[in-house]
Amino acid sequence: MVANSTIIGDENPTMADFDQIRTNFPVLATEMNGKPLAFLDSAASAQKPQAVINAMNDVLTSGYSNIHRGLYSISQQLTADFEDVRRKVAGFINASSDKEIVFTRNSTESINLVAQSWARAHLEEGDEVILTEMEHHANIVPWQILERQIGIQINVVPVFDDGSLDMESFETLLSEKTKLVSVVHISNATGIVNPVNKIIEIARDFNPKIKVLIDGSQGVVHGKVDVQALDCDFYVFTGHKLYGPSGIGVLYGKYDILDSMPPYQGGGDMIEKVSFDGTTFKEPPYRFEAGTPAIVEVIGLGAAIDYVSAIGFDALEKRENALRDYGHERLKEIEGLKLYGTTRDKIGIFSFTLEDIHTSDAGMILDQCGVAVRSGHHCCMPLMHRYGIEGTIRASLGLYSNEDDINQLIDGLKKVKELFG
Ligand code: ALA
Repeated sequence: MVANSTIIGDENPTMADFDQIRTNFPVLATEMNGKPLAFLDSAASAQKPQAVINAMNDVLTSGYSNIHRGLYSISQQLTADFEDVRRKVAGFINASSDKEIVFTRNSTESINLVAQSWARAHLEEGDEVILTEMEHHANIVPWQILERQIGIQINVVPVFDDGSLDMESFETLLSEKTKLVSVVHISNATGIVNPVNKIIEIARDFNPKIKVLIDGSQGVVHGKVDVQALDCDFYVFTGHKLYGPSGIGVLYGKYDILDSMPPYQGGGDMIEKVSFDGTTFKEPPYRFEAGTPAIVEVIGLGAAIDYVSAIGFDALEKRENALRDYGHERLKEIEGLKLYGTTRDKIGIFSFTLEDIHTSDAGMILDQCGVAVRSGHHCCMPLMHRYGIEGTIRASLGLYSNEDDINQLIDGLKKVKELFG
């Protein structure tokens, strides 16, 4: 039932022909404000290839039903397809079992689930959670809610001027009371890649009982993730940045840990038996999936994983790194541009300010030039505060981005300078 995704042509679907890949994304052939669309906001949400659109369309046109409930054929078939995607996700991040894959709405919900289920059950007043200054609000606010609910303490690893983490400070923040380290794999605001292997190693050496959560919203999009090799306890990501649909996310958790966690929400499909004398719950992952899930979106996520896997992360990283370097070179032409995130270990996210020019003014002119970027704090207000700015202009690359997109950005920025500089 799920459409087989033809990726780059039937003959050699692993050949990385990125010009052809671009044609798989219908929206990239459209215009914005009469100009070719230069879509440079993939960090916010990526565009979708035809294979994903087709897979979702196929379910809706030729076999939609609820899952896990119907005894009739199309429900049984869709249930099997849905569970196939769970296995696919497990393979994609090398989880040891599909039982370690919980479907959620997005990374935000995955982190809230860990906070309200695992942490609320296992942490007590005075216990410490370590975050970093570059976290997205989704990896700050759930812990602040817990701070108010049970009195945990949040400790924050500072960020250097170049955007990298102060690892010495991280080590000094570890204490007998540290129960969790929750850190972003790749910063959505600057593109900096954090040394998550090292972070996990240091935390484990200090105390093997410390749990580590990795926010992989960007991490899973730009490189191969192996949760067993990483040895993280939780890894979260979202479908819509991975060229799949919105409304579907993933929480990976080691099975024993998931099994120690109470339900996050109650409802249908997560119970064994309900009675007013007492209700019993299913085992993970179903215990955490109350109610009808995002069925069509799960199928779309499966198609997105097939799509990205067919290209392969070797080819993808090579391409993105070359474009990142091209972008950095060309941005040097813009006088007064200040880049945030300047280490070598970063992905194709260009986050910058233009002296006194307001980021919204720049965003509006770029829009007129057909260039889609994000302007503002990128849901990372503490990081912006650390730099003493309100926000940045952020251009972010996807696997379909090309030099023309970057050239259009540079022309647009020259226009911004002409008008406001
Ligand atoms: N977290 C998304 C971003 O970085 C929305 O823009």
